[in-house]
Amino acid sequence: MPAVAYANGRYLPLDEAGVSVEDRGFQFADSLYEVIAFLNGRFLDAAGHFDRLERGLAELAIAGVPARPVLDQIARRLVARARIADGLLYIQVSRGIARRDHAFPADTPPTLVMTARGHDFARRARQQQTGVAAITRPDIRWQRCDLKTVALLPAVLAKQAAKEAGAFEAMFVADDGTVTEGGSTNFWMVDAGGRIVTHPADRRILPGIARASLLRLARDAQMTVIERPFTLDEARAAPELFLTSTTAPILPVVRLDAAPVGDGAPGPVATRLAALAWAEIGRQTGWRPPVA
Ligand code: PDD
Repeated sequence: MPAVAYANGRYLPLDEAGVSVEDRGFQFADSLYEVIAFLNGRFLDAAGHFDRLERGLAELAIAGVPARPVLDQIARRLVARARIADGLLYIQVSRGIARRDHAFPADTPPTLVMTARGHDFARRARQQQTGVAAITRPDIRWQRCDLKTVALLPAVLAKQAAKEAGAFEAMFVADDGTVTEGGSTNFWMVDAGGRIVTHPADRRILPGIARASLLRLARDAQMTVIERPFTLDEARAAPELFLTSTTAPILPVVRLDAAPVGDGAPGPVATRLAALAWAEIGRQTGWRPPVA
């Protein structure tokens, strides 16, 4: 499958694109990113992703990034050049290239990189019917997890541990026993009363775009959703757990560490939400999961 990149103002095959070794993204992880899904060549929830990127850039005082219509145009050109129908657009903005010094450089333009590559959403739709496994890992991250920075080493380590355990995701658990989120996903549980619970969008988690979309869909369907922290003990006792992200719009978690979640199969709440989530994806992009 062809994959293409935009870097330093040029569109290139992915393996020909590069940035300077002095780029602050590489040197300091002084950099933000976004991952936007496209299906049938159409972006999903693009406005939410651009809003989050703009908020992050403002929080980190990274200035000089092209305005949204320009980013949007580059993104569309890249996807058209890639000739991929369904995939992931990756955007990264760093504070630019400068001699290594921790404090911000003066008058340095940011670096802007985008890539587009294929992604198998049909596989995710199939996995949703069987569910996936997760393991628990201590949340050793910093106190601004709301910012989508490329400083992902704790997630890298946690997701490697998940992979070695044959699991799809690592659930981060804070020192106080709170389940924050997954290595690259937001976590949800269903409580004994059938209510849907997920961590509030504060500084301890990334405010996921798939999370925001599912919150809206659930509330529109008159389902009860509570944004509150929940503990690992609650998660272990929950009848249902599931996760959301751009790359996996909704996936039931049917094993946590060695134990089954609920009866070890996707539950009715996650199944209903999945139908709503895929219908919304279809509404925005026209995409339908292939019938198995
Ligand atoms: N990950 N939490 C974390 C820590 C994440 O890295 C992500 C996204 C999410 C879900 O956010 P969204 O719904 O906006 O995708 C939650 C991206 C997809 C990644 O790093 O690949």
